[in-house]
Amino acid sequence: MDEIVSLCKRRGFIFQSSEIYGGLAGAWDYGPLGVEMKNNIKRAWWKTIVQERDDMVGMDAAILMHPQVWVASGHVATFADPMVDCRNCQARFRADEIEEGRCPTCGAVGQFTDARMFNLLFKTFAGPVEDEASVVYLRPETAQGMFVNFENVLTSTRKKLPFGMAQIGKSFRNEVNPRHFIFRTREFEQMEIEFFVRPEDAQKWHEYWMEERLRWYVDLGVRPEKLRLTAHPEADLAHYAAACSDVEYLFPMGWLELEGIANRRDFDLQQHSKESGTTLSYFDEEKGEHVVPFIIEPSAGVDRPLLAFIVDAYTQEEVRGEKRVLLKLDPRLAPVKAAVLPLSRNDKLVPTAREVWAMLRPHFMTAYDDAQSIGRRYRRQDEIGTPFCVTVDFESLEDEGVTIRERDSMEQVRVPITGLVEALKERLPRC
Ligand code: GAP
Repeated sequence: MDEIVSLCKRRGFIFQSSEIYGGLAGAWDYGPLGVEMKNNIKRAWWKTIVQERDDMVGMDAAILMHPQVWVASGHVATFADPMVDCRNCQARFRADEIEEGRCPTCGAVGQFTDARMFNLLFKTFAGPVEDEASVVYLRPETAQGMFVNFENVLTSTRKKLPFGMAQIGKSFRNEVNPRHFIFRTREFEQMEIEFFVRPEDAQKWHEYWMEERLRWYVDLGVRPEKLRLTAHPEADLAHYAAACSDVEYLFPMGWLELEGIANRRDFDLQQHSKESGTTLSYFDEEKGEHVVPFIIEPSAGVDRPLLAFIVDAYTQEEVRGEKRVLLKLDPRLAPVKAAVLPLSRNDKLVPTAREVWAMLRPHFMTAYDDAQSIGRRYRRQDEIGTPFCVTVDFESLEDEGVTIRERDSMEQVRVPITGLVEALKERLPRC
C-alpha cells in the first residue's frame, strides 16, 4: 500500500486535502490523473447500468434534502458507530475495530473509555439563522434522493416493475476513524442503484444483482480470485435490510468491502409514505392492485473501487535487468489512452510530433512528453497505465509513419500517421 500511496501522490492521482495546512483527516483530493480515472469508472458504470439497459433510468438529486427525510430513513436515530477513547494517548477509535483492548496508536492495554454511540451525520444550517429549525444534513447516502422521487420518476417515465433508478454523487459521513488512504473517508462518492421489484421477486433479483455486479469488476479487468461475495450475518444487517452481501476485494490490508448489495424490502417507501403523507406505491394495471415494491440496492463507492483497480493493476517486473513498474489498467479506466513522445527535442521532430498530438486530442485523452530519454518516458507512461505510446522519430519525417508501442507486451508496430487515429481506435475498443 505504501508504494501505491506514494505513486498516487507522485504522479498526480491523489493528494492529501489541504496539504499545505497539514491536511484534513478523511478528505482527499483527486489530481489530474485521478480525476480522469474516477470519471472513467463512473462512465463505465453509467454505461453498463443506465445506457445499456432498458429497465433503468438515471437521477441526480440534491445533496441537501428536507431534514425529515433522515428522520424517516432512520439515520437521525440509528446511523451511529460505537466510539471509544484511549485514556493514555487520547486517540479515538471505532470500538468494533479494537483488538484485545490494545490501543492501535500507543499500544496501551485496557485504557479505553466505555463505548458511546456517535452519530455519523454531518449537520449544517440552511439560511442565515443557525438554530434547530434550520438544521440540514449532508446526505450520508445518495439512495434517499431516489426514494423520495419514486412518484416523480414513475409518472414522468411510465416505467413498469421491475425497474431501477441509478445515481452517482457525493456522500458524507463523519467517520470516527477514517483510514486506509481513500478506503474510508468522510467525503466520498457513491454509485447507487435502487431496483424496484414485486415483493415475491425480491430474492430472485437480489441474486441476479450479486452476480451482475461481480461480473462488472471482472469485465473491467479485476482478477476474479481477488473478488468474493460475503453475506452479512443477520445480526450485522442495517436496520432497513432483510439481507445483504458485499462484493469484497483482497486489498493488501485484507478482504474489504467495495460494494454492498442489499434487499431493503419496502422499508424506505413505507417510511416515506408514513412521514410525508404521500403514498409511494405502484399500480399494477394487469393485476389491478397497488403494490409497495421491494428494493434491491447495489450500492458501490467510487473511491474504493478506484483503489482496488489500482492495487489490482499494480505490477512490478524485470526488463533487461531493470525494474519496471506498470499499471495494467483496462484501457477504459486508464487516465491517458495514448502518449505522444518525440524521440528528442530536435527542432525538426517537434512540429511533426505536435501535429500528431493535435490530431489525437479530439479522439482520446492524451499526453505529450519530451523530457529525458525515450526509455524513461516509456517507464513514466507504464507507471500511470497508459496503454499506448506513439513515438515520432527521424524516420517519421521520411516515411510519414509513427511507432505504436503497447504497454504490457512492449511490442511495437509502425503505422502511417494518416491511419493513426483508426489504428488506436481499433486497439482501444469501448473507450
Ligand atoms: N445506500 C446504502 C449504503 O450507503 P453502505 O454499505 O453504507 O451502503 C455503500 O455504502 C458503499 O459506499 C460502500 O460499499 C463503499 O464502497 C462506499 N462507502 C461507504 N462509506 C464510505 C466511506 N466512509 N469512505 C469511502 N467509501 C465509503
